[in-house]
Amino acid sequence: MKIAVLPGDGIGPEVTAQALKVLDVFAREGMALEFDHALIGGCAYDATGHPLPPETLALARDADAILFGAEGGFHYEALPRGLRPGDALLTVRRELQLFANFRPVVAYPELAGASPLKASHLDGLDLVILRELTGDLYFGEPRGVHIENGVRVGINTMRYDEEEIRRIAHAAFRTARLRRRRVCSVDKANVLEAMELWREIVDDVARDYPDVELEHLYVDAAAMSLLHSPRRFDVIVTGNLFGDILSDEASMLTGSIGMLPSASLGDGTKGLYEPVHGCAPDIAGQDIANPLASILSAAMMLRMSLGQPDAAARIERAVRRVLASGYRTADIAEPGTKQIGTSQMGDLVVAALS
Ligand code: IPM
Ligand code: MG
Repeated sequence: MKIAVLPGDGIGPEVTAQALKVLDVFAREGMALEFDHALIGGCAYDATGHPLPPETLALARDADAILFGAEGGFHYEALPRGLRPGDALLTVRRELQLFANFRPVVAYPELAGASPLKASHLDGLDLVILRELTGDLYFGEPRGVHIENGVRVGINTMRYDEEEIRRIAHAAFRTARLRRRRVCSVDKANVLEAMELWREIVDDVARDYPDVELEHLYVDAAAMSLLHSPRRFDVIVTGNLFGDILSDEASMLTGSIGMLPSASLGDGTKGLYEPVHGCAPDIAGQDIANPLASILSAAMMLRMSLGQPDAAARIERAVRRVLASGYRTADIAEPGTKQIGTSQMGDLVVAALS
């Protein structure tokens, strides 16, 4: 099983290194894992003049799964569009048609105190945000800044065709069937025609899944409900932009965005696995970042792309065990817990695997 490892920038390399430590345990136990590393993002731009060198895209295309870290950094923000680190990730998602982005949000009881929300709100919270990842305002044309009557005008286009909506809706209902059989579709159909179509198609797909309960929420109400009554949700399916925003919001239910893994899949089993957090240049290289999102992303990879659900569950149990023993990185530390660094957290998860 070929894994393309793209650590990227900022805290990407240090958190990815911990996920690799964990995967290495399975390799040593005999799982046939082959790792190939490549540059992506700012480091790739520095080395080659482009954030997504052709050999990196080729490696990603060829792999069974991609383990991605993070990309970006303050000094790349002024680069022209197309050369910015974030563009590389968007191109990989789009080129490989990884349209279904799963962002599970699970509140670990051990971390209830780390969330700004009341612990009584969070007990048993377990939802997944399924974010459409290759359409919407992120990719719609026309786009750009041009001059009209002497003033600059910025334009982006929210665009979804019905097939794009249909395939993500199917993914949502299929996911719900493996869970608590509830889908909440989030849109802005009261204002936006593209989202009116979204709602119509989701309703249409729902007819194939009479055993799954469907509700619709406007995105503003969904943002409120996520804080007010997060446990009402099972699967939230939404477009690219709303999913980006709601998943960062939802991360706060878990205590830290450093806890959120993600998986991006297309029609097959190939997937890209990445922590939801970004490159965090302010804390990069200091061995203080939380590697659990990356480690949990590796678990998702084993389950969703590599057909190794037992190994995935073992990692998830190991993470819980480490948290239950009171070890915390800075982002989730509370009085009375033992604060440790990135690398030590990786070592502890490895130790807890056996
Ligand atoms: C995410 C990130 C990306 C996105 C950025 C880095 C382009 O915020 O994966 O949530 O907006 O999709
Ligand atoms: Mg985001």
